[in-house]
Amino acid sequence: MAHAQGRRLTIAPSLLAADFTRLKDEVRAIEAAGADWLHLDVMDGHFVPNLSFGPLVLKALRPHTRLPFDVHLMISPVDPYIAAFAEAGADHISLHPEAGPHPHRSLQVIRSLGKRAGVVLNPATPVEAVAWLLELADIVLVMTVNPGFGGQAFLPSQLAKLVALRRMIAAADHPIALAVDGGIAPDTARLAVQAGADTLIAGTAVFGTTDYAVAIGALRAAGAVAIADPHANDPHTTGTTE
Ligand code: DX5
Ligand code: ZN
Repeated sequence: MAHAQGRRLTIAPSLLAADFTRLKDEVRAIEAAGADWLHLDVMDGHFVPNLSFGPLVLKALRPHTRLPFDVHLMISPVDPYIAAFAEAGADHISLHPEAGPHPHRSLQVIRSLGKRAGVVLNPATPVEAVAWLLELADIVLVMTVNPGFGGQAFLPSQLAKLVALRRMIAAADHPIALAVDGGIAPDTARLAVQAGADTLIAGTAVFGTTDYAVAIGALRAAGAVAIADPHANDPHTTGTTE
């Protein structure tokens, strides 16, 4: 599995699982613990059945960390809010193709604002939905839970999507991160990286622990094992001599 070699893992803790009474301290702590990006889940109570926070919170946190802000917009319509998140300090802005009538145009807008553009696939959304968006995508994010809440169980059915997307990304003419979000902990991280993911988004498995550096280290180690030996503990190949 040549694609697995040479991949650098990105760890992106999700602020949704942080202590909201101490967000500034949480963001500083996660940077000190070795996070690569800070994932920020924006929910509107309409596109997903939950509410979280908006650009004001990004703006308030922006001076307190150098971590790239990886903003996951779960809002519809998404287009009226893209510029506000860019101005508030987003470095990456990811959207669901269902969140507006013209996702290709939405990605163009994100790129025109000088930000990295991402597209997110819900569990029921097929990989074909991104085929004609890849030319504008810097990130493809596979949801391994239905979006809206932290702490849900990882959906193994989505691993096949990562395998297919890894192939599609390999054929693209520019680098595209392949991220996974939902129920990511060391065991599921290993499966996701084996399937092709290079970016691990995790809320509960990092902010739900007492030592963030240890939690991030455990995710990195699980991913590194999968990169070094993509077939380790793979139920389809364990026991064979290949
Ligand atoms: C869910 C969000 C996730 C969430 C992940 O809608 O997109 O980023 O914070 O939380 P865990 O890691 O707890 O599943
Ligand atoms: Zn998210």
